[in-house]
Amino acid sequence: MEDLIKVGVLGSGTMGSGIAQVAAQAGHQVVLVDINAEALEKAKNSLNKIMMRLVEKGTWSEQFANEAFGRIDFSVDVNDFAGCEMIIEAIVENIEVKHAVFSIMESIVGEKCILASNTSSLSIASIGSVLKNPNRIIGVHFFNPAPLMPLVEIIPAVQTSDEVTQVTRELVDSWKKVTVLAKDTPGFIVNRVARPFYGEALRIYEEGIADFATIDWAMTELGGFRMGPFTLMDYIGNDVNYTVTETVFAAFYYDPRYKPSFTQKRHSEAGYLGRKSGRGYYNYADGVEIPEPIKDIATGEQILERILVMLMNEAIDALFLNIASKEDIDLAMIKGVNYPKGLLQWANEMGLENVLAKLENLFQEYGEDRYRPSPLLRRMVKSGSTF
Ligand code: NAI
Repeated sequence: MEDLIKVGVLGSGTMGSGIAQVAAQAGHQVVLVDINAEALEKAKNSLNKIMMRLVEKGTWSEQFANEAFGRIDFSVDVNDFAGCEMIIEAIVENIEVKHAVFSIMESIVGEKCILASNTSSLSIASIGSVLKNPNRIIGVHFFNPAPLMPLVEIIPAVQTSDEVTQVTRELVDSWKKVTVLAKDTPGFIVNRVARPFYGEALRIYEEGIADFATIDWAMTELGGFRMGPFTLMDYIGNDVNYTVTETVFAAFYYDPRYKPSFTQKRHSEAGYLGRKSGRGYYNYADGVEIPEPIKDIATGEQILERILVMLMNEAIDALFLNIASKEDIDLAMIKGVNYPKGLLQWANEMGLENVLAKLENLFQEYGEDRYRPSPLLRRMVKSGSTF
């Protein structure tokens, strides 16, 4: 274990503490830094608790847990990053604050140290722009909870050297994560391709085609998704999910495909945030029953198909624009958000001609740009090929 590099993690919140655990359990010495001593103390207690629970469950031995916990140094001083060869930043999602901390971190670490950000929505190129050596910037995007979700998106910026990309990917692979390579564009792979799962479900509701429970039923029972869109948005938090949608929409120069929904905005404004506030699309108060879906197969299949072809179109367009390889696009959705199948593979199985016909119908019926089929889908159908 002695030759493993020392890893720094900046920010000990939800993501930072999870990432610190991942690195420590893989055998690295970890320095976890937060400016807020209280937040740091909270992270220390919660990491200890999580590791002890793993011992109780028999997943880890007590010795392994003690050693992993003992490898994490908790500090409020960024100067303790000296000697780290990789730092992963997971602080507030604010570009000015990120710029400030990346400049400071570069002045503390050695020349070889890779500086990574776990940002969900900011540009890696912009974060790296403040560095004296911008070749060492990279995006390393974990999913919540970091120790449990297998996917990590690796995002080289235009400035990132090939060596930094390779070393970073190998390192995260060695943490038993599934890594995919994504272009430095809004939402990377998962948060871009998944937009219609929420957006199209909300639109179907707004048109009065079905209620929340029926749409959720169609996606889970008929589609095999682990959770329906409304149940999932209630888990994520309507405020959080709405903000991601709004950010992606603006970042794509207001492409109508990513337009946020008034239903979600109003729920968010009303404080119907989801499970965390006791009420979202569903009411989670004691004694209140979740409404029953209307299990009409024909309507259910229509709902499923409409959301599915929109998801497939998004995945196809991501491939068209070289956001990632086709293997990585499929892997990302399975490992990052638990989709039952990769969307490109699924499109092959549904028949690309069929997928295109359904999108053309929507496009014609609504006349809205959000339903425009990807040029790559048209091209594939024309040439009779598959993904
Ligand atoms: P959080 O709010 O739970 O934790 C942020 C921590 O950073 C806090 O403990 C805060 O005290 C600390 N902090 C703030 N400014 C700091 C500074 N200048 N120096 C040192 N520490 C500082 O946030 P969360 O949810 O862990 O998110 C962190 C980052 O990870 C964000 O960039 C977010 O976009 C990204 N992310 C979040 C995911 C999620 O599901 N929460 C998923 C993937 C990425």
